[in-house]
Amino acid sequence: MTLLCPVCSLALHREAGSMRCENNHCFDFAKEGYLNLLTGNKKKGSETGDNKDMALSRRSFLSKGYFDTLLNAVDDLFCSLHNENAAILDICCGEGYYSAELKKRHPQADIIGFDLSKEMIRLAAKRKSGNTYIVANLFRIPLPDNSIEFAFHLFAPFGEEEFLRILKPGGILDTAVAGENHLWQMKEVLYEKPYKNDEKPPHTTLPFTEKQRADGRIFLDNNEDVFSMFKMTPYFYHTPSEGIAKLQQVPQLETEISFALYIYKKPVL
Ligand SMILES: C[S@@+](CC[C@H](N)C(=O)[O-])C[C@H]1O[C@@H](n2cnc3c(N)ncnc32)[C@H](O)[C@@H]1O
Ligand SMILES: [Zn+2]
Repeated sequence: MTLLCPVCSLALHREAGSMRCENNHCFDFAKEGYLNLLTGNKKKGSETGDNKDMALSRRSFLSKGYFDTLLNAVDDLFCSLHNENAAILDICCGEGYYSAELKKRHPQADIIGFDLSKEMIRLAAKRKSGNTYIVANLFRIPLPDNSIEFAFHLFAPFGEEEFLRILKPGGILDTAVAGENHLWQMKEVLYEKPYKNDEKPPHTTLPFTEKQRADGRIFLDNNEDVFSMFKMTPYFYHTPSEGIAKLQQVPQLETEISFALYIYKKPVL
């Protein structure tokens, strides 16, 4: 898949250990095999994305398959397109679990993942899945217009203009948000009076086609996994210390997981 120079937007061409555009802007591959296409003056949104500790927690938790209900839902939607050679984009791919698993299931697909966090992308590239991983900002995606058939976007900020630009006409965007009862039993430990998630779709004018659900229950038989899961959530930043102390004492936890998937389709003109 063609990548664009983040400075001048011309196509980048492979040259030994780097990618270069015709204006001579050059970007080296990191030793793990990823490319950093973030330019200092183009940052928007959070400065650097998630940090190393969050990246490692996500890696440890997802690798155990706890959220495979979500992976399977994304995969089912992709399979319904009947296009094994599609260009797939994992928007804000984190440490690459979902995109790497999809590559195992669909080796012919051209899969690319990007994230603002270098720590996340480093871990994603280390999976050696055959996918392309880049450090980039969702408000300036270094891909050509009309280049992606299937994009998925799990628990991340929304960038409507760029999502619409990079999708091919007829291309699909699959966006996941936490369902009403997602991690309810963990919230019961953390809070006196837990609230349900609002499950709201992103605020967007992209043409909406369908809402799907993916629900299940998971059993975590050790506190390390419970805590890794907690660190992946926004509650990690907002929970009073008594709640955190209670969660640290929990030897195991069975909890509901629930995902709402909002599906959009770029119009064919
Ligand atoms: C909650 S995590 C979800 C990661 C992945 N989709 C998953 O489900 O495992 C949100 C991710 O969005 C990334 N992120 C935040 N702001 C971003 C931006 N402006 N551009 C690209 N990635 C961003 C963070 O670094 C983080 O990896
Ligand atoms: Zn350039």
